[in-house]
Amino acid sequence: MEISLQLELLELAKAMGREAGALLSQRPSGFELSTKSNEIDFATQMDKASEAHIVSRIRSARPDDGVIGEEGSNIPSKSGITWVIDPLDGTVNYLYNLPGWNICIAAKDNAGVQVGVVSAPSVNSLWHARKGGGAFHNDRPIKCNDPKELSGALIATGFSYDVKKRIEQAEMFSQIIPKIRDARRLGGAGVDLSYVAMGVLDGFYEYGLNEWDYAAGGLIATEAGAIISGRNGAPVGKEMTIVAGPTLHGLLSAAIG
Ligand code: IPD
Ligand code: CA
Ligand code: CA
Repeated sequence: MEISLQLELLELAKAMGREAGALLSQRPSGFELSTKSNEIDFATQMDKASEAHIVSRIRSARPDDGVIGEEGSNIPSKSGITWVIDPLDGTVNYLYNLPGWNICIAAKDNAGVQVGVVSAPSVNSLWHARKGGGAFHNDRPIKCNDPKELSGALIATGFSYDVKKRIEQAEMFSQIIPKIRDARRLGGAGVDLSYVAMGVLDGFYEYGLNEWDYAAGGLIATEAGAIISGRNGAPVGKEMTIVAGPTLHGLLSAAIG
């Protein structure tokens, strides 16, 4: 993709990330929860309001682009560009007023994700990247860490809303935790990936993420020097997401098996 188009998409993504961040920062006086796949998987009225805002901005700025959004948007692309958005990542943090909730916005074409923005006003942060153009935190260039031993690595993970997956995740966690420096569960995959990108965490893995959880943060991490993949080096996907600097990525992948 031409740099001029990447830059146009990036400016739109940053603007939408800031606007959705401002919208979500106005916390409602009460929450309306609608359940999704089961009773612990839910969206609030604010997840939906954020998605509606982002989709209407895309539709007016770039009417031929496609959109995949967690809260149900599914618009086929006529331009070859598709936006992949999580309008509120870390909904549980948001509900409890814990920091770390964020908005993930990526734009991809048939060569992959071209731009990614993670906007997290609760931690005063906006990360962005464009393919081939580096990664930035609040407009300053960032780079990931790369510890040479698992015992020197701070690793984050997350847990699914699918109870069966949680049992497998707990088993996997019990294999990893004795080998690493320590673990964190911060509550939003977009911020987890961006924290790996800037060296606030050394690595991250999670079984069962969706594309809207990792598309933006995955590009930010890659552009900061990290490797993102699935299990055993397979492409990243729903099955498994492993992100870390090149040496740690190999060690973490081997430990996950
Ligand atoms: C969730 C968060 C969480 C991760 C879950 C995701 P949501 O996204 O990223 O950290 O562990 O797997 O589903 O539902 O809050 O957008
Ligand atoms: Ca999410
Ligand atoms: Ca979400």
